[in-house]
Amino acid sequence: MVTDNTLAKTPLDGPSDTRNRRLRDLRISVTDRCNLRCTYCMPAEVFGPDYKFLPRSEILDYEELARLARVFAGLGVSKLRITGGEPLLRRDLPDFIRMLRTIPGIDDIALTTNGILLPKMSESLKQAGLDRVTVSLDSLNDETFGKLNGRGVGVKPVLEGIEAAQQAGLGPVKVNMVVQRGVNNQDILPMAEHFRGTDTVLRFIEFMDVGTTNGWRMDKVVPSREIKQLIDQNWALESAEPNYPGEVARRWRYKDGRGEIGFISSVTNTFCGDCTRARLSARGELYTCLFAGTGTDLRAPIREGKSDAELVELITNVWKRRDDRYSEIRNENTTNLPKAEMSYLGG
Ligand code: GTP
Ligand code: 5AD
Ligand code: SF4
Ligand code: SF4
Repeated sequence: MVTDNTLAKTPLDGPSDTRNRRLRDLRISVTDRCNLRCTYCMPAEVFGPDYKFLPRSEILDYEELARLARVFAGLGVSKLRITGGEPLLRRDLPDFIRMLRTIPGIDDIALTTNGILLPKMSESLKQAGLDRVTVSLDSLNDETFGKLNGRGVGVKPVLEGIEAAQQAGLGPVKVNMVVQRGVNNQDILPMAEHFRGTDTVLRFIEFMDVGTTNGWRMDKVVPSREIKQLIDQNWALESAEPNYPGEVARRWRYKDGRGEIGFISSVTNTFCGDCTRARLSARGELYTCLFAGTGTDLRAPIREGKSDAELVELITNVWKRRDDRYSEIRNENTTNLPKAEMSYLGG
């Protein structure tokens, strides 16, 4: 590995993009594979038995990923999120977490997972230094959930995963529910009721037109406003302040003190204005937006032996040119633009 003292000299604030947004969060996809086939993410008809996932040699190894994370930390990143695909499918993930934990300037390491492997892995992830997990769960009904996840997997293993993470100290666990009209909108109240009064924070996500294979249509989106009204009619809500500037989820709490919920409204209430997120695909490309078609290759420079200073310059130049605000300009035409799949570039 080539090292020098550039990182120490880089101003902590790091670069701003053309919209005056800094670089604060890095989302690292460690694999493009998943053990589920959620219809809105990796539909089974597209990601079938013959689908060509990335071969091992194409994927960055942990040393390469950790080196990049360190470079990003030098440019102002303080939050890391491990994603996929399903990140818990990648071998020896706790070893990677341990490497990330040693990076100066990183104060939060989180992971997004479908939860199935959490009973097996929560303890070792916690010991390695993982701070918290977010688990995807779209219904409490086995039939609805089984259809949605494309593999007939029931709800129980996911609830056990949430419980295991909570027990291991990876909480408060957040649960992501992607809501689609005519698919799982009938599960909104049961989900709210189930997690009300627990330490788990349920977040409702508007169905998004990420990638090009999930059959997105505006009429399948259930606006957060509608969900909020529905819940508020049953259990009164009051708004809560963001936990930090630029938080993706808008927070609401139950007036009776039984916890909080969140709304991620990428379609009806966009949040590009303070988007400080960069994404690193499993192959080592830097994406500056969840809806981007292409990324900037960082793998070739690494494998060609470029120094940290050269990587800093490359990333800085990409970030300075960044102009993304897809959710703000979304319309019927943008939906059909070429976009990378979410399982590939990382949620
Ligand atoms: P914390 O607030 O740190 O817990 O993270 P988070 O809210 O970003 O959590 P998580 O990673 O679970 O993000 C929740 C979901 O919000 C993601 O899976 C995406 O579906 C969506 N999301 C996150 N970041 C972005 C973004 O930059 N743009 C858009 N459009 N959606 C995003
Ligand atoms: N729309 C909204 N959210 C999505 N996710 C995956 N695909 C979509 C989509 N099309 C969410 C999953 C998971 C996270 C990685 O992203 O539910 O929680
Ligand atoms: Fe897998 Fe998560 Fe995508 Fe579902 S949403 S297919 S669990 S990566
Ligand atoms: Fe950031 Fe792109 Fe999402 Fe807007 S659409 S919040 S720019 S990732």
